[in-house]
Amino acid sequence: MSENKKLFIQTLGCQMNDTDSVHIQAELEKHKGYTATDKLEDADLIIINTCSVREKPVSKLFSEIGQFNKKKKEGAKIGVCGCTASHLGKDIIKRAPYVDFVVGARNISKIKDVVDVKGAVEISIDNDESMYEFASANTNRYRVGVNISVGCDKKCTYCIVPSTRGEEISIPPEMIVNEVQKAVNNGAVEVMLLGQNVNSYGRRFSDGREKYTFTRLLQDVSKVEGLKRIRFTSPHPLHMDDEFIEEFAKNEKISKCIHMPLQSGSTEVLKSMKRGYTKEWFLNRAAKMRQLVPNLRITTDIIVAFPGETHEDFLDTLDVVNQVKFDQIFNFKYSPRPGTEALNMADKEIPDEIGSARLTELIELHKRYLEESMPPLIGSTVNVLIESLKPNGEVTGYTDNYLQVFAKGSDEYLGKFVDVKVTDVTRTALKGEIIS
Ligand code: 5AD
Ligand code: SF4
Repeated sequence: MSENKKLFIQTLGCQMNDTDSVHIQAELEKHKGYTATDKLEDADLIIINTCSVREKPVSKLFSEIGQFNKKKKEGAKIGVCGCTASHLGKDIIKRAPYVDFVVGARNISKIKDVVDVKGAVEISIDNDESMYEFASANTNRYRVGVNISVGCDKKCTYCIVPSTRGEEISIPPEMIVNEVQKAVNNGAVEVMLLGQNVNSYGRRFSDGREKYTFTRLLQDVSKVEGLKRIRFTSPHPLHMDDEFIEEFAKNEKISKCIHMPLQSGSTEVLKSMKRGYTKEWFLNRAAKMRQLVPNLRITTDIIVAFPGETHEDFLDTLDVVNQVKFDQIFNFKYSPRPGTEALNMADKEIPDEIGSARLTELIELHKRYLEESMPPLIGSTVNVLIESLKPNGEVTGYTDNYLQVFAKGSDEYLGKFVDVKVTDVTRTALKGEIIS
């Protein structure tokens, strides 16, 4: 009877959610005999792993679970996990009574205990060692996501994360190294270290041990034999000290692409966001990175129309964009979130049409930059770690500085580094021919 139960998971939001979904799947496979399906109609259990960073995904959630409820097969269960689960808790079941259980972002390890309990709501944000222990999972053979910390101690005034994921606790370095080693033994060559604020790693452990640093963790992880590439997200610009930047520059296993979430280029706005750094600090850190790391790619997050953002403030953001020359920008229009400090700034709210115009201007500026910066790559040769084969016979992978590359190929290249001669570019990727 319990054989062949099928699980369908939909994942919204960030990479921590992606990793949590991998863990959910692994736990339910190992302990409850589920296998994954990508067909909702076949599933015995449907899980939505939610995000609450911006408002849109929350409203999307309720319309989506309504749809799932209509399409699901008779008797199938629905569970809601992730940040919106943490933040709305039992209200989800009140609003959508056909939801069977709710599991918060910090309680994923409890998934196997609640799947069979109708009406279960597991959303505490207390620390619990067991949350680090998961069955191993294997979705992408070559890349593995490993959590290095949970929660966030910052109080950025726009951000709901500290209230959904709780206080920041680091996972002991030896557990992280172990998990990376296990993944490498299973064929992984690349690790993505994950946390809301990775470079404040090591300030607090659940067992009260001595402090550690992210730089030391990077050194530990890079000693794992067989591991070829290390990535991490998200670092905080405030904690990019010289020691970290120097390790980033000289450690050959670290991918030379860094996410530096700017949020705003205006020191005034940064102050009211409580980001802890100034425009000058950000520019200084980016310049130091560029100086020490040739071919560095920098990606960022920017919020426009934060309450009180003047035209001059916005010009400061454009100025930083022009100076740093980000290779990728994730743009957001400010979205008020429950329980955040910025909600009290409602009197300084920016009219929506101004917010939209600023967003468009930023996107256009960046588009123009990419249209200039990408074509000169045609004719160059790049080294690529091939990760997957597409049905059309193309393989795809990433360069050391994390630019996606497509080329004709076959499964013999999977998991290998190859040289690709670039023949064409888009704004965000390269196309070419494998030459060796
Ligand atoms: N409104 C708009 N964008 C937000 N982000 C986080 N909270 C909000 C909000 N309330 C963005 C930030 C963050 C990214 C993950 O989402 O830029 O870095
Ligand atoms: Fe949110 Fe700021 Fe923590 Fe990032 S650092 S998760 S933006 S509170």
